[in-house]
Amino acid sequence: MSRVAVVTGAARGIGAATVRGLAAAGWAVVAVDRASDDPRLPYSMGTEAELRAVVASSLAVPPDSGAPHRDTARVVAHVADTTDADALGAAVSLAEEQFGGLDAMVAVAGVIAGGVPLWEMPGDELGAVLGVDLGGPITAARVGIPALLRRPAPRNGRFLAVASAAASRGLPKLAAYGAAKAGVAGLVRGLAVELADTGITANAVSPGSTATAILEESARLYGLGDTRSFADQQPIRRLLTPEEVAAVLVWLAAPASGALTGAVIPVDGGLSL
Ligand SMILES: NC(=O)c1ccc[n+]([C@@H]2O[C@H](COP(=O)([O-])OP(=O)(O)OC[C@H]3O[C@@H](n4cnc5c(N)ncnc54)[C@H](O)[C@@H]3O)[C@@H](O)[C@H]2O)c1
Repeated sequence: MSRVAVVTGAARGIGAATVRGLAAAGWAVVAVDRASDDPRLPYSMGTEAELRAVVASSLAVPPDSGAPHRDTARVVAHVADTTDADALGAAVSLAEEQFGGLDAMVAVAGVIAGGVPLWEMPGDELGAVLGVDLGGPITAARVGIPALLRRPAPRNGRFLAVASAAASRGLPKLAAYGAAKAGVAGLVRGLAVELADTGITANAVSPGSTATAILEESARLYGLGDTRSFADQQPIRRLLTPEEVAAVLVWLAAPASGALTGAVIPVDGGLSL
């Protein structure tokens, strides 16, 4: 039987690449996104059309060799805000009802705001960053882990979240974002010990500068014309692709990653060195 995941932030960027990567590896996936703009933020979120296109392209990809055979549509879209426990809980219920259970809760959704010192940041932007970037993964853990625990033992459940290089480096004009992402690192460490010997692990990845809409918005916040200077800061001298970050998430979601828990893995082209 295929393993089953719920992935948030699935309409574009790293979340979309994670959905496609999991589907290619034979997973059934509920692809979740708010699929509408956040009125607190000045840049656009993913759209419902993008979310549906991710589902369509995931189903079009033939599974990797060795992956379980898929005979039905195993990737579905679900519009929900990751900070809304009832809406995200409905995505988890969908995974259990349609695919028979949950093996991985993957909290990718995130937003960025800042561009000014913390004390000058508008309160609604601060609320969005803390609410989505830290509250989102906490909500995902609270609604997802009970479903992971409903799988009979022995199990290989996975709680995964996306932190950031900003979790461990002080980045000017992004103090709130860094605080939220450092919170994600603390979250997976705490969950790892709470989950103990349940067979469920909790890990995060910390991406460096990755070519997505969030990085475009970061360039705007720093008054840069484009994202090229972010590439220059990374020892590998290029931006990461969303697929490169997703590949690590897909590996972490698999049973083979069972020796890792409470880890925050840099996927950053050496940015954190
Ligand atoms: N791109 C980078 O350089 C970079 C670096 C470090 C960390 N990250 C993190 O990677 C994750 C993915 O971001 P991305 O780079 O793919 O950006 P992105 O903006 O392309 O994708 C984020 C997705 O999350 C969705 N989303 C936002 N708020 C949501 C909410 N409340 N509920 C549900 N969905 C919501 C958006 O609609 C969008 O589709 C984020 O957590 C981000 O902080 C990105």
